[in-house]
Amino acid sequence: MTRFAAAFSASSILLSLSIQPSHAQNATNILSFVDPLIGTINGGHVFAGASLPFSMAKAVADTNGGELQGGFASDGSNITGFSHMHDSGTGGSPSLGNFPIFAQAGCPDDELNNCLFTKTDRATPRINGTVEASPGYFAIELASRVRAEMTVANHTALYRFTFPETPVEANAPLSPLILADLSDLPESRINGSIAVDEHTGRITGSGTFSPSFGIGSYTLHFCADFSGAAVRDTGVFMNNRAGSQPKNLSVTSDGINNSPEILPAGAWTRFNASTEILARVGVSFISVDQACSNAEREIPSFDFPATHSAARDAWTSALDVVSIKPGGANSSLQTVFWSGLYRAMLSPQDYTGENPLWSSDEPYYDSYYCIWDSFRSIHSLITLVDPASQARMIRSLIEIYRQEGWLPDCRMSLCKGFTQGGSNADVVLTESYLKGINDGIDWETGFEALLKDAEVEPPNWAVEGRGGLKSWKELGFIPTDDFDPYGVGPFTRSISRTVEYAYDDFCVAEMARGLGRTAEYEKYVERSEYWRNMYQADSTSAINGTDTGFVGFLQPKFLNGTWGYQDPIFCSPLLNFTSCYLNPDGHETYEGSSWLYTFYVPHDMANLITTLGGPATFTRRLDYFHESGLLYIGDEQGFLDVFLYHYAGRPAKSAERAHFYIPSQFNDTVNGIPGNDDSGAMGSFAALTMMGIFPNAGQDVYFITPPFFEEVSLRNKDTGKTAVIRNVGFDASYESIYVQSATLDGKAYTKNWIGHSFFRDGGVLELTLGRNESSWGTREEDLPPSLSTRGRMGY
Ligand SMILES: *[C@@H]1O[C@H](CO)[C@@H](O)[C@H](O)[C@H]1NC(C)=O
Ligand SMILES: *[C@@H]1O[C@H](CO)[C@@H](O)[C@H](O)[C@H]1NC(C)=O
Ligand SMILES: *[C@@H]1O[C@H](CO)[C@@H](O)[C@H](O)[C@H]1NC(C)=O
Ligand SMILES: *[C@@H]1O[C@H](CO)[C@@H](O)[C@H](O)[C@H]1NC(C)=O
Ligand SMILES: *[C@@H]1O[C@H](CO)[C@@H](O)[C@H](O)[C@H]1NC(C)=O
Ligand SMILES: *[C@@H]1O[C@H](CO)[C@@H](O)[C@H](O)[C@H]1NC(C)=O
Ligand SMILES: *[C@@H]1O[C@H](CO)[C@@H](O)[C@H](O)[C@H]1NC(C)=O
Ligand SMILES: *[C@@H]1O[C@H](CO)[C@@H](O)[C@H](O)[C@H]1NC(C)=O
Ligand SMILES: *[C@@H]1O[C@H](CO)[C@@H](O)[C@H](O)[C@H]1NC(C)=O
Ligand SMILES: *[C@@H]1O[C@H](CO)[C@@H](O)[C@H](O)[C@H]1NC(C)=O
Ligand SMILES: *[C@@H]1O[C@H](CO)[C@@H](O)[C@H](O)[C@H]1NC(C)=O
Ligand SMILES: *[C@@H]1O[C@H](CO)[C@@H](O)[C@H](O)[C@H]1NC(C)=O
Repeated sequence: MTRFAAAFSASSILLSLSIQPSHAQNATNILSFVDPLIGTINGGHVFAGASLPFSMAKAVADTNGGELQGGFASDGSNITGFSHMHDSGTGGSPSLGNFPIFAQAGCPDDELNNCLFTKTDRATPRINGTVEASPGYFAIELASRVRAEMTVANHTALYRFTFPETPVEANAPLSPLILADLSDLPESRINGSIAVDEHTGRITGSGTFSPSFGIGSYTLHFCADFSGAAVRDTGVFMNNRAGSQPKNLSVTSDGINNSPEILPAGAWTRFNASTEILARVGVSFISVDQACSNAEREIPSFDFPATHSAARDAWTSALDVVSIKPGGANSSLQTVFWSGLYRAMLSPQDYTGENPLWSSDEPYYDSYYCIWDSFRSIHSLITLVDPASQARMIRSLIEIYRQEGWLPDCRMSLCKGFTQGGSNADVVLTESYLKGINDGIDWETGFEALLKDAEVEPPNWAVEGRGGLKSWKELGFIPTDDFDPYGVGPFTRSISRTVEYAYDDFCVAEMARGLGRTAEYEKYVERSEYWRNMYQADSTSAINGTDTGFVGFLQPKFLNGTWGYQDPIFCSPLLNFTSCYLNPDGHETYEGSSWLYTFYVPHDMANLITTLGGPATFTRRLDYFHESGLLYIGDEQGFLDVFLYHYAGRPAKSAERAHFYIPSQFNDTVNGIPGNDDSGAMGSFAALTMMGIFPNAGQDVYFITPPFFEEVSLRNKDTGKTAVIRNVGFDASYESIYVQSATLDGKAYTKNWIGHSFFRDGGVLELTLGRNESSWGTREEDLPPSLSTRGRMGY
C-alpha cells in the first residue's frame, strides 16, 4: 500500500562511518551501518525507534505533524509523548502508539495544574541535532531540556529521562512529573481506564481502540513503573486539569464529542528532585497483570545499559548471518543495504502468548501489514536470513486460518485488515513450501487454507479471501460489472484482481503438485491462465495524444463478454495516480496502471512475452515502462518489473535497472525511500537487489544480478552452511555490471537464476564481470522457468 492523500481512512474511517574496511565486516561494525532514520520523512513512515527483531515493544518519540504513522518523523514537528508499540512504514492512518508517557522537569510555580497534560498543550519542540537512532536505541532532547532515551525488550520499553538541575519552566523547582495518557496515535480510543498506586507511583491501565487499516477493535493493557526518585504525589488528569484524588478513572465516549476529539485523560506521578528517572512500561493484550509480569521478567532491575546491550546483541545476531566485502563500495551504499535488511526484520511482530482471541500452542504473529505488500520480497528475505522465524510466521498464518476461517491478507492489532487484491498469503505459504521450510508446519492444513481461498467466497471479502469467485470459476475473469450477491467488498479493481487471482491459483497448483495432488494441480494450473481473459490483443496506449506504439493491454471486460475501456496509463504517475486506492469510484486497477498489471504474469512470462510480440518487443516495452514515468518504484508491484528482462534473455538489462533505482531512489538520507516502507518492503527490495538475488515470490527462483559489493555471504541458520556470491573483476564505480561468465562451486553455470538449495546447502557462485552485455544467461535453457515451457507437471 502506498498513500499520498487520505483517500480512504480505516478508522474514520547515524551514524555513517568514515572508515571503509576492505575486508569482510565484523559483527561490531554492522550495526553502525544501520540508520533507522532513513525513510522518516517524504512518505516513508518508517519506525525509527528502539525495537528487537520482530518484537512487540517498539519505543519512540511520537510527533504531531502529518507523518506520524510510525510515531516519529524527521519533519521538525513537536513531540507529544513516548509510546511503546508501533507499526513501521504504513500508509493510511497512524497505528498503535497507545498509552504514551510524557515527562516534565517541574511544574511552573511548583503548581500541579501548571504542568501540561493534554497532547495539544504538552507538544514540545525537539532540539535539532539531538536525535540519535541505532538498533535497539533512540534518544531525543526536547526544548524543555528533558532528554529521553529508550531501549526495549520483547514486550517492555525502558526509558531513561534526564532532567536539567534547573527546569526551564518558570519558577519551577526540580520535581519531575511523568504522566501516562489513555490515547493512541490515531485517537481511536473507544474506552479506557487507568489507575495509579500512591505508594509506588506505578501506573496501570487498559483501553479499547480501533485498528488502523481494518475492522473491529482491540484491547491493550500497560503497566508503568519508575525508578530513580522518591514518589512525591500521584493522581489522575482529565482535560487540562489534574488532582491528587481520585487515584483512578474510566473514560468512555460521551456520545457527543466522539473521535477524533478524544477526551484527554490519564494518570501522573510526581517525584522528588532527581536528574534521572527510569520508566519501564510493559504491554500486554491479555491483562494488566501480564503487562506488569512481562516488564518485571524482562527488565527486572531497570538496567538501561544491560537492556540496550541485549538489544544490540539481538540485532547483531539477526544481521550477522550476512557479511559483505564492500570492495570499495562507499559507506553510503553499505548503509542503504544494512538498513534495508534491518527494516525487513521489524514486522510481523511476535505476539505469541499475547493473543486473547484463542488459546493454542501455535506461535502467533501479528502486524502482517499488509501481505499484499510483504509477499513480494519481505518473506523471501526472512526465509534467507531467519528461516526459523519464517516457519513460525507460516504456522501463525495457518493457525489464523484454523481459528478464523481464512488466511489474512492484512492484519494488525489482532484485527482483520483490508484486502487490496488477491489472497496473497497463498503466495507466502507456497514459497516457503517450495523452499523446504518445514519446521513444525502442518502443510496439509496449509493447503486446505489455500483451497478455501480459491473456492469459498467469504461474507466480507474486503478483509479476507476473494470476491467474485462464482464469476471467476464460471467465466474465468472478474467482470468489471460483476453480479456478486454472495459477499461484500469494493466492486473495483477487476483487472488487478483478475491477474492476482490467477497467480494465487498458480501457487495453489504448485503446492498441489508438491503434495502429489494431481487433480488439483491440473485444475488450478488451468485457472492460472485466466489472466488472458482480460487481455485485449488490439488495445493501444497513447500518452498526450501520441501513440506509444505498444499493442495489447489488459482491459475492463463485462459480464456479457464485451470490452470496456480504461486508459492504460490511468492510475500511473502520469494520470490520476492518487485515484486508485480502496475508494469506490471506477478504477479497474489498484495503485498502478494497466501498463503495470499487463506485466504481471510471474508464473508464465514465456507465454506473456510471446503474447506481447516476442523478446525484442517485450524488452522495448519494458524499457519504455521504466523510462517514461509510468512506473513508480515506491509501490511494491514495481519491484518484479526491474528483473523481468531475465525472461527475455537480457539479464544485463535487469542489472542496469537495479543501478537505475539504487541509489537514486534508495539512499541513506531521511527521505531515502520512494514510498511507504510497508513494514520494510522497500528495505527488503534494496537488500535483495544489492545482494543480486531478487526473488520471484511464490517460486523457488532468484534472479542473478551482480551484487553491489565485491562479495556477499549468507549463512543459513538452519543448516549452518554458507552461500557466497563473489564478483570477479568488481568495480565500485559500477561500469562493470555485466556478467560475462559464472561458475557454481567451480563448474560453469549458465542459468540466469538460482534456486533456494544454494542457500540451504551452501556453495560459491562466482560471477565474472565486464563492461558490456555478454551472451551469459541469454539462451532459452538459461531462463527462469515458465509454466508453458517447463513441461507437463513441471518435471
Ligand atoms: C571490528 O570492527 C571494528 C570497527 O572497524 C574494529 O574496531 C574492531 O577491532 C573489529 N573487531 C574485530 C574482532 O575484528
Ligand atoms: C529545526 O529543524 C526544522 C526542520 O527540520 C526547522 O524547521 C527548524 O527551524 C529548526 N529549528 C531550529 C531552532 O533550528
Ligand atoms: C510546536 O511548538 C512550538 C512552541 O510551543 C509552537 O510554536 C509550534 O506551533 C508547535 N508546532 C506544532 C506543529 O505543534
Ligand atoms: C524475544 O523473542 C524472540 C522470539 O520472537 C526470542 O527468540 C528471543 O529470545 C526473545 N528475546 C529475549 C531477550 O527474550
Ligand atoms: C470498551 O469497548 C468495547 C468495544 O465496544 C467493549 O467490548 C467493552 O466492554 C468496553 N469496556 C468497558 C470497560 O466499557
Ligand atoms: C520528598 O520531598 C519531601 C519534601 O518535598 C520530603 O518531605 C520527603 O521526605 C522526600 N522524600 C524522600 C524519600 O526523599
Ligand atoms: C477506582 O478503583 C476503585 C477501587 O479499586 C474501584 O472500586 C472503582 O470502581 C474504580 N473507579 C473507576 C472509575 O475505575
Ligand atoms: C556512493 O556510490 C554511489 C554509486 O557509485 C554514488 O552514486 C554515490 O554518490 C556515492 N555516495 C557517496 C556519499 O559518495
Ligand atoms: C503530457 O502533457 C503534460 C502537459 O503538457 C506534460 O506536463 C506531461 O509531461 C506530458 N506527459 C508526457 C508523458 O509526455
Ligand atoms: C454489455 O454490458 C455493458 C456493461 O453493462 C454494456 O455497456 C454493453 O452495452 C453491453 N453490450 C452488449 C452487446 O450488450
Ligand atoms: C482523475 O483526477 C481528476 C483530478 O485530478 C478528478 O477530477 C477525476 O475525478 C479523477 N478521475 C477518476 C475516475 O477518479
Ligand atoms: C534519495 O531518495 C529519495 C527517495 O527516493 C529521492 O527523492 C532523492 O532524490 C534521493 N536523493 C539523492 C541525493 O539521490
